[in-house]
Amino acid sequence: MRVPLVLLGCGRVGQALLEEAASLDLQFLGVLDSTGGVVDGGGIPQGRLSQLLSRKREGVALGELGVPGEGATSALLALLRERRGLLVDVTAADTRPFLFSALEAGWGVVLANKLPLVGPWEDFRRLSSVGYEATVGAGIPLITTLKALLGSGDEVHLIQGGLSGTLGFLLAEVERGEAFSQAVRRAMARGYTEPHPAEDLSGADLARKGLILARTLGLPLELEEVELEPLASPAGRGLPVEGFLQGLRAQDAELRRRLEGAKRRGLTLRYVVEVSSAGVRAGLREVDRKSPLARAQGVENVVVINTRRFKGHPLVLAGPGAGPASTCAGLLLDIFRLARTLGR
Ligand SMILES: NC(=O)c1ccc[n+]([C@@H]2O[C@H](COP(=O)([O-])OP(=O)(O)OC[C@H]3O[C@@H](n4cnc5c(N)ncnc54)[C@H](OP(=O)(O)O)[C@@H]3O)[C@@H](O)[C@H]2O)c1
Repeated sequence: MRVPLVLLGCGRVGQALLEEAASLDLQFLGVLDSTGGVVDGGGIPQGRLSQLLSRKREGVALGELGVPGEGATSALLALLRERRGLLVDVTAADTRPFLFSALEAGWGVVLANKLPLVGPWEDFRRLSSVGYEATVGAGIPLITTLKALLGSGDEVHLIQGGLSGTLGFLLAEVERGEAFSQAVRRAMARGYTEPHPAEDLSGADLARKGLILARTLGLPLELEEVELEPLASPAGRGLPVEGFLQGLRAQDAELRRRLEGAKRRGLTLRYVVEVSSAGVRAGLREVDRKSPLARAQGVENVVVINTRRFKGHPLVLAGPGAGPASTCAGLLLDIFRLARTLGR
């Protein structure tokens, strides 16, 4: 059976999924961005999908190519009532009302979008059946692994994650002798950061990832309870980028001092998200230079999982933790898993 789905969001990740779709057994019933889109309960023909993708890549809004605004939303809500399928949310918006409607109508839901999962715990519980592999570590099968461990009666004691390729890259550069502020400029030049690097350095996205992991373990925590040590003040987001970068120079000496201190103890510094029954913490940690967390290459993500059965020799997962292709791999794990439950 072809998997019927609606794609909510058509940015970098959504476009990668559309591109991949040509070689997969997926039937697109709708493709929407923030301006509107195309909804067709009979399935959008492949030729039309390719046209939508290439026009979107040229910068044309889907609202101009299909039905604009509210009209597209109403068509989508009607489709949710008429058919069954999967709603794949690759927006970066708070889509909870949409997701709840889809679930109530018997649809499966797949997310790359973290925002719906970091609202109140009660909302997370309402979303317990959704697939969200792509939200943490992109295509690394981390959520699948955690659920399999828990499902087999194991107990997860501690997760340590180098879950930001950008921050991993920055600290590896500082370790090589680069000044922190220069390393941020280099990461920007390589396209590793958000348009405003304060976004990456605030650690906010890592707090969300840590919370999603903790909730996966059944810990009823809220975002405000995550202990977060930002690498730069979140207030920096309000500054023009160049002013923000200039300001970072004030941190060069302090970071160098912390790194030298770690080196004297035979260790190095990495930005680590830690999840345990004690809660979620994210910040700079001194780690063994030979540990998997220190050895991550480039923008690789690494996750070390200590459980009752994997004790002393923890389970280690590593791979590209961001990027449209890797995120798409995570989405497809959930899409084909949930497709098997459709119509049951
Ligand atoms: N990129 C990665 O490597 C990566 C990795 C893991 C997870 N993620 C997550 O995946 C999601 C998508 O990432 P991305 O890089 O593709 O972001 P993006 O390029 O900014 O694309 C976001 C898309 O969502 C659309 N959108 C926003 N609000 C919407 C709404 N209310 N209804 C329908 N569409 C809406 C946007 O519409 P317009 O085109 O009209 O602006 C855009 O097409 C994000 O939540 C991100 O955190 C990304």
